[in-house]
Formats: sequence, structure tokens, C-alpha cells
Amino acid sequence: MGLNHLPKRVKLVDVGPRDGLQNEKTPVPAEIKIGLVHRLQEAGLKEIEVTSFVSPKWVPQMADNVQVMAGIARQSGVRYSVLTPNLQGFEAAVPTRPDEIVVFGSASEAFSQRNINCSISESIERFAPVVAAARAAGIYVRGAMSCTVGCPYEGDIAPERVAYLAGLMKQIGVQHVGVADTIGVGTPRKVQAAVEATLLHYAIDDISGHFHDTYGQALSNTLATLEMGVWQYDTSVAGLGGCPYAKGATGNVATEDVVYMLHGMGIETGIDLDKLIDAGTYISDFLGRKPQSRAANAILNKRAG
Ligand code: HMG
Ligand code: MG
Repeated sequence: MGLNHLPKRVKLVDVGPRDGLQNEKTPVPAEIKIGLVHRLQEAGLKEIEVTSFVSPKWVPQMADNVQVMAGIARQSGVRYSVLTPNLQGFEAAVPTRPDEIVVFGSASEAFSQRNINCSISESIERFAPVVAAARAAGIYVRGAMSCTVGCPYEGDIAPERVAYLAGLMKQIGVQHVGVADTIGVGTPRKVQAAVEATLLHYAIDDISGHFHDTYGQALSNTLATLEMGVWQYDTSVAGLGGCPYAKGATGNVATEDVVYMLHGMGIETGIDLDKLIDAGTYISDFLGRKPQSRAANAILNKRAG
């Protein structure tokens, strides 16, 4: 498919408050997380992945999930999503009124075991009642599919594994799936193959890309999948992030870099890049580092000069 087929508008889900912060060793106070969500919605993000309802023993940084959800001054038109790996997490999440929940499975058996302590088929058994309960409550259900091109434990992952997982997600009623390159090893043809495998079970409008940038390929992978018609991406402000069970993997592609690329291509996002950079600076200042975004740093240098 050529460039003429590129979408005119792209939806970005900022996963910074969740994927971005879950791996931070020092506790980030709830007020800072809430401040980050506020700045992201101020910048025009229409969906924000706020937190996760997982075991605080496994991911201590997300233990303040209820407090963070309660502290957000919600903006109409903005969707707030949370991760829920099982019924226990879902039941804890419901009173916090998420617009969307995310069940998260893996195309790799080894990663499934390390991340959520069960096999792929057991994970689907756990997700099924969560999906049913969410849909009965009118809460939209997204499925994250980890390790769709590579796994930290198993190496390369074949597209057939992705198709298999996407098929299981579809069977239990998951409405939308994210094709994740958890450890950022993918290159354009490989992520295209993972999306193609997903297309066996989901329409292009129900698929998003979630690319970590460990090997510096995430923008290329974004462009490669845009050319297939994908128009929804998870990105992380200031390039925050990583997964505690995927050692060495860095953050998601920076929201700032994706916005800069898309706007430069004449594709709308509804996001104000300057305000987004302010959001990234806010959290990066708190963490005591520079934003992991080339575009943000270039613009910050220009502002300083
Ligand atoms: P488990 O130990 O198998 O669960 O963990 P269990 O049901 O046997 O319960 C054991 C204990 O955990 C019990 O507590 C439960 O109450 C508690 P205890 O009696 O020992 O005190 N528990 C919970 N507590 C709070 N919330 C819950 C919950 N469930 C059980 N929902 C579990 C299974 C999934 C909970 C665990 O493995 C876990 O929390 N894993 C963390 C996974 C995680 O958050 N990973 C990072 C997010 S995924 C990601 O980053 C990838 C993504 O970005 C896409 C990509 O890039 O690939 C989405
Ligand atoms: Mg991730």
C-alpha cells in the first residue's frame, strides 16, 4: 500500500502514566501521576492509560491505582483506561469508573508465565469472565498482545503465534487488540507481519500498534503500519516506560516524536505539541532526567536558545 492510503487522522493513547511509570523504582506520588494525566488531557490526548489493577507485590508502583483514578478531574470526551489481568483486578477497578479495561496476554508462553504467572490458555480462561463482566457493564474491552515479534525469553515469535492469540481474544469478546512489540526488537516488515496476522481476526479499525523503542525502530514501525491503514497507537509521553518482566526493554515510542512525525505528514492528532512537551518536561523533571524524545529535546533546546 502506498502513501496515498495513509489515514488523515490518528488516535494516540498515551500510556505514560501506566506503562511509562510502572517500571520506575522510586515511588512516584499519586499527585504527580494525577498532574501528568491532567497535563496530557490539557495537551489534547483523548485517551489516557492511567494505571493498572495488578498485584502490588508484583508492581508496587501501581499500588495507588484507586487514589490516582479518584484524583483525576475528568474532561468530557477523554477516555480513561486501566489494566485488569483478572476478576480481582476488574472488581477493584469498576468503582473507579474506567471507560475501558485492558486484558493483557502474550504471544509467547514464557512471557505469559513471567508476566502474569500463567500459560496463554490459562490467561484466556481468566480473561473470559472479565471481558463478559466488562461488556455487561458497558465498559469497552481492549486486549494487549505482548511479544508479537520477539520475546525476551523465547527470541523471535512467528506471526502464527500472534494469529493464535488474536483468535483467542476474539473468541472471548475482546473488542480491540493492540499489537505490542514489548521489547522493541521489531523492524518494519516484522511488525507488518504481526499486524497482518492480527487482521485474520480483527478489522483494521480494531487494531492498534504499541511499539517500544529499545532498538530505535518504533517510529519506523509506526510508519510501516500506518501504511497498512493502522490509525491507533499507544505512545508514551517523554518515552517513559518499560515492563518489569522484560528486562532491558526501554519505553514506548515517545508521544512527542510520533506527533511531530504525523503533523509533519499532514496527519491530524488533535494534540498540541507544545503542551505535550510541557507534560513530558513535568514528569521528566520529577524523575530527574531529560525526556527520552528527540523531538521534545530539539524543541526544548530551541526554546532555551
Ligand atoms: P498470581 O500470584 O498468579 O495471582 O498473580 P493469584 O490469583 O494466585 O493471587 C496471589 C496474590 O495476588 C493474592 O494475594 C491475591 O490477592 C493477589 P495474597 O493472598 O498473596 O496476599 N492478587 C491481586 N492483587 C491485586 N490486584 C489483582 C490481583 N490478583 C491477585 N488483580 C497476577 C497473577 C496477574 C495478579 C500477577 O502476576 C501480576 O500482578 N502481574 C503483574 C503483571 C503486570 O502488571 N505487568 C506489567 C503490565 S503488562 C505490560 O507492560 C505489557 C503491555 O504494555 C504491552 C506490551 O508492551 O507488551 C500491556
Ligand atoms: Mg508496553
